[in-house]
Amino acid sequence: MEKLKDSLFFLAIGGFLISSFAEPSIAADAVTATQSLKDNQTLVSPGQKFELGFFSPRNSSGRYLGIWYKNIPDQAVVWVANRDYSLQNFTGLLTFSNDSKLVLLNESGNIIWFSNTSRVARNPVAQLLDSGNFVLKENGDDNPENYLWQSFDYPSNTLLPGMKLGWNLKSGLNRHLRSWKSSDDPSPGDYTYSVDPRGLPQLVLRKGSTKEFRSGPWFGEQFSGDPDLIANTVFKPMFFSNDDEVYYTYETIDNNTSRFVLGESGMVQHFSWNDRHWNLLYNVQGDRCDNYGLCGSYGNCNHDKIINCECLKGFRPRSPKGWNMLDWTGGCVPNDPNICRTGKGFIKVTGLKLPDASQFSVNVSMDMKDCKAECLKNCSCVAYANLDISSSGNGCVTWFGELIDIRQVDKYGQDLYVKVAASELESIADRSRQKKRIVVAVSVALAVILLASTSFLFIWKTRTKGATKEDELQLPLFELATIEAATSNFSAVNKIGEGGFGPVYKGELPSGQEIAVKRHAENSGQGLQEFKNEVILVSQLQHRNLVKLLGCCIQGEERMLIYEYMPNRSLDSIIFDEVSRRSLKWQKRLDIVIGIARGLLYLHRDSRLRVIHRDLKAGNILLDGEMNPKISDFGMARIIAGDQTEAKTKRVVGTYGYMSPEYAIDGHFSLKSDVFSFGVILLEIVSGKRNRGFSHPNHKLNLIAHAWKLWNEGKALEVMDALLDNKFVISEALRCIQVGLLCVQLRPDERPTISSVLLMLDSQHALLPHPGRPGFYSERSLPETESSSAGIKNTISNEITDTLLEGR
Ligand SMILES: *[C@@H]1O[C@H](CO)[C@@H](O)[C@H](O)[C@H]1NC(C)=O
Ligand SMILES: *[C@@H]1O[C@H](CO)[C@@H](O)[C@H](O)[C@H]1NC(C)=O
Ligand SMILES: *[C@@H]1O[C@H](CO)[C@@H](O)[C@H](O)[C@H]1NC(C)=O
Ligand SMILES: *[C@@H]1O[C@H](CO)[C@@H](O)[C@H](O)[C@H]1NC(C)=O
Ligand SMILES: *[C@@H]1O[C@H](CO)[C@@H](O)[C@H](O)[C@H]1NC(C)=O
Ligand SMILES: *[C@@H]1O[C@H](CO)[C@@H](O)[C@H](O)[C@H]1NC(C)=O
Ligand SMILES: *[C@@H]1O[C@H](CO)[C@@H](O)[C@H](O)[C@H]1NC(C)=O
Ligand SMILES: *[C@@H]1O[C@H](CO)[C@@H](O)[C@H](O)[C@H]1NC(C)=O
Ligand SMILES: *[C@@H]1O[C@H](CO)[C@@H](O)[C@H](O)[C@H]1NC(C)=O
Ligand SMILES: *[C@@H]1O[C@H](CO)[C@@H](O)[C@H](O)[C@H]1NC(C)=O
Repeated sequence: MEKLKDSLFFLAIGGFLISSFAEPSIAADAVTATQSLKDNQTLVSPGQKFELGFFSPRNSSGRYLGIWYKNIPDQAVVWVANRDYSLQNFTGLLTFSNDSKLVLLNESGNIIWFSNTSRVARNPVAQLLDSGNFVLKENGDDNPENYLWQSFDYPSNTLLPGMKLGWNLKSGLNRHLRSWKSSDDPSPGDYTYSVDPRGLPQLVLRKGSTKEFRSGPWFGEQFSGDPDLIANTVFKPMFFSNDDEVYYTYETIDNNTSRFVLGESGMVQHFSWNDRHWNLLYNVQGDRCDNYGLCGSYGNCNHDKIINCECLKGFRPRSPKGWNMLDWTGGCVPNDPNICRTGKGFIKVTGLKLPDASQFSVNVSMDMKDCKAECLKNCSCVAYANLDISSSGNGCVTWFGELIDIRQVDKYGQDLYVKVAASELESIADRSRQKKRIVVAVSVALAVILLASTSFLFIWKTRTKGATKEDELQLPLFELATIEAATSNFSAVNKIGEGGFGPVYKGELPSGQEIAVKRHAENSGQGLQEFKNEVILVSQLQHRNLVKLLGCCIQGEERMLIYEYMPNRSLDSIIFDEVSRRSLKWQKRLDIVIGIARGLLYLHRDSRLRVIHRDLKAGNILLDGEMNPKISDFGMARIIAGDQTEAKTKRVVGTYGYMSPEYAIDGHFSLKSDVFSFGVILLEIVSGKRNRGFSHPNHKLNLIAHAWKLWNEGKALEVMDALLDNKFVISEALRCIQVGLLCVQLRPDERPTISSVLLMLDSQHALLPHPGRPGFYSERSLPETESSSAGIKNTISNEITDTLLEGR
């Protein structure tokens, strides 16, 4: 485009347009040779799915010709014609040139955009199809092969079902996504997402010319680096490669409205329209191991490890010093640099996203034996793998140059054979023999320990010892001195709270940034495992309703988490405090409820991991300067597999008053046990009372039981906080209470999912089900401790069962 603009920009066009200016209106979905499209007119595809016309991005006065969804209120623009030059007022005109190109003219008749058609049509027509494709064709000829031009060949930042992302190798057309400059500016931004057709074709995200992410090669039905891609029920990804074309495309499964978008900040995300929202279904980039070349050459990234990068066997860090400081960019070098001269062999590494390299060679018919021989023969060959695209199991890929961007993938990973010196093979064989001996020794030792009555103490001791050794984590690591300075040496003045695991301090970094430091008491209940759990999890989760982890600090016995500072502290300090609560008006309370639900929705459904929080409570909801709620404290959270909705634990952790009965009693935790806790928080927010600790002159019920009782007596509004002074919308309040009661029902399968909760809170007219019996117990018979642990479980469960309410 850029090149052409010079030659055509100022190309004046003749009088043939004059007649078309006069044309009043146009057919619904197409423009013909004698027609044109003015700024205030649009084309609508036959099935009313897409609309084409002029638009201004939010906060911008420039006019652009674009395509968006017809019936979706949020004007999601899927294609823009004149990305480089906006029109300055409402006088733009889309029409045909005399050589049947589509042209976009400004007021003075200058062409500011045109369709690059190769042939001239006798009777051209430009039609907007239901796929979102704007096609230029000979009138009456609907064969896609014969289109003179189509918008699908010139994507903007959006890939729609049926669009091809990739190359027409014959014509050299490279269809790729390019980000907008900003959400207000469709002009081409820094990021591109395109097919790299060399060797094993793959999708590559670049910022400028720097690779930021790659999908890994396509293997049969998925990308080597992205097993999750096929595990969804909304769209089916596909990749085609032959001598003429190499491209990625996808189709939807249930005709869902779906789009992939390359965002301004370089994220590639899939959205589908459902429940009247654009739902983020899938992020193409997953965890930090997806950052291109994070571990340098020959470094293998493993996201499940605290220290992500490891050199492949037979390799060592190029700069051990940098490596130990968690700077992995130097990568690894062979232990024995003379691989070629000293004789060599291969080490098999399993479960990988296959690496990138400067050069690949692919032979689809070669068998594995020849493949290995081929790689041995050539000094610059560094690895080979089986390319199992033919059912024969044949197919050989060889890598030349340094291997880079290697990572472990959970499922469907590939095997890679990495060339190492012969001496390496021997020492590895030695080490594995040694390992066997150690395993034997350890099992004998364990047997002895099991016999000994002191076994518990012993294991505990060794575990704590191991803990102090693992002192390096993947997040920004703060020096202890920095934190001490920031918090005035953990002074009492700076202390802002006492969490389950120790005190929390406010601090200020030299940059002026305010932080909250969660300092773990030496004998806090939170073990190293929970600490790591929290660090790993929180560093991967990002949502406006989740608190943001800035880093951690581990030095000696100290373990600290550094969060963004939340000026309004936690929800419990507001809603259970008469003074603060008085200023919390109804709309704000509703906003907080919805914010928490959004954060939870992200955890349950929209993040790439499915996360069950397990300890949702008012004390774990923090409030920023604008009183936006942020879920915090992920020490107890669990990641569950994509298709899993529940799990079981022997170790019940959580907070009474917020725990669902099935979790407190049987250790069953599920998305629905979080929904239960959410329901309790909701009722606490509207009532201003604690569920646990609630008291009433007439009965011994807790808050949720009390609310349900009132609901059934038709007096639900009595549960509302008196300090609200009846200043709320009654229908909203009733709906809120009803949703809360639905969430705390005894039977998990009767509780709504968090996405339904949001929908119910949002819909004025939807008929909600009648809430069934809540799962609760009178809190008076429970121990005083806030958090339970394994030991208490059995002693409390009988009491809980006894006190579950029978009937009303
Ligand atoms: C227009 O098409 C021709 C041939 O199809 C191609 O060589 C040229 O680069 C294209 N120009 C633009 C701006 O796409
Ligand atoms: C289109 O119009 C321009 C300007 O009037 C003229 O120079 C050109 O020859 C015409 N092209 C065709 C294909 O008629
Ligand atoms: C569109 O704008 C033209 C003037 O540019 C005006 O005559 C016409 O009525 C407008 N049509 C609509 C539907 O607003
Ligand atoms: C619009 O842009 C101006 C200047 O860039 C900015 O100050 C303003 O906040 C923006 N408004 C919105 C609604 O984004
Ligand atoms: C449209 O914008 C151009 C350039 O900014 C200006 O010359 C012209 O007068 C404008 N036309 C109208 C109708 O405002
Ligand atoms: C139309 O575009 C040309 C080329 O950019 C420009 O020189 C001219 O001023 C524009 N006319 C109007 C009215 O905006
Ligand atoms: C999807 O849409 C097509 C065409 O509009 C229709 O034939 C098909 O039945 C739809 N499939 C589903 C599952 O709705
Ligand atoms: C996809 O469409 C089906 C059928 O219309 C619907 O049940 C489902 O919720 C949709 N899924 C998403 C993620 O939009
Ligand atoms: C691919 O391997 C086969 C079998 O080893 C061999 O005959 C053929 O020449 C190779 N093709 C290329 C292009 O190297
Ligand atoms: C080794 O392979 C590279 C890359 O294919 C090639 O350029 C080089 O000529 C080969 N060397 C030998 C000795 O075959």
